[in-house]
Amino acid sequence: MSSLTRTLPASWFCSSPLYQLERRAVFLKSWYLLGPVTRFHQVGEEVKYEVAQVSLTVCRRSDEPRDISILNETGSEVKSCITETGLVFSTISDEAPPFDEFFSDLKPLIGKVDFTKLPHRRSIKYEGKFNWKTMVDGYQECLHCQYTHPAFSVYYPPTFYTVYNHTNFSQHVADPKKPDDGLFLYFFPNCTLNVYGGGMSSFRVCPTENPGFTRMEFDYYHEETGAKFEEYFKFVRQVAMEDYELCEKAQENLEKGVYYEGILNPIKETGVAFYQQRVLDMTLAQHDNETRFHPVEMHKTSTSKLGTATQLIDPASS
Ligand SMILES: [Fe+2]
Repeated sequence: MSSLTRTLPASWFCSSPLYQLERRAVFLKSWYLLGPVTRFHQVGEEVKYEVAQVSLTVCRRSDEPRDISILNETGSEVKSCITETGLVFSTISDEAPPFDEFFSDLKPLIGKVDFTKLPHRRSIKYEGKFNWKTMVDGYQECLHCQYTHPAFSVYYPPTFYTVYNHTNFSQHVADPKKPDDGLFLYFFPNCTLNVYGGGMSSFRVCPTENPGFTRMEFDYYHEETGAKFEEYFKFVRQVAMEDYELCEKAQENLEKGVYYEGILNPIKETGVAFYQQRVLDMTLAQHDNETRFHPVEMHKTSTSKLGTATQLIDPASS
């Protein structure tokens, strides 16, 4: 049993100091999918983003769809990348590595799909009572799908559902018999791209300063307007709300203080193990770094809030 992978402890889903460490360790050092270039269809229109308390303003400058500026709060251009097939990615800090290093094997996969085909139709956002990782946990496995998503499971039977993990992203294959339908991509740490049901959606799980609250942001793309789009929208919103309710319940349980950690299914939950390991590695490296260079400051933090590095992993050891 000891060789089986365990989840992150429940405390990592509930602690404010842990979130602040995670923010410096993970969020300031990552890349974010803002959408395909079609998200920025109006020349001169500003589209606002906020990732881990950093605001970005995105604006298309001319008739050329790839002429897009991405500025932070100080008005400075941030590091960004528009891929050959039209996906716009951005950083929120100079601490992020180069795009090709962060997503080193992404281009061959996304190079096969033209992401500029579907026009942007709608964007929505709302808050959820759960940690950002509670939602990513659910996205990265499909053991819950049969029970939680009865309508979705008819089209994409969870029996075949497979997750392939790469460098900082995962590809989900819902049904190998339908290679042109059902492309699901997770971009570490908090973005997804979902092509299914005749349309395309992208969502960001944006952490707030309260570890128990998250802002969900969804963008929807579809060739059709009117009734056909609304039919697609209703279907994908149903799936999203089923996940939302599940996450609020899971978070309630994480905050009760009884559940501590679990064992991940070695076949069906490799996506969860993959991204949680990235969070763990980056967070512990950040903690070691900060402790090494600022021992006095970190000592204050660690005794009052975080505990030692060991306690970070295992609060029960305190
Ligand atoms: Fe789900």
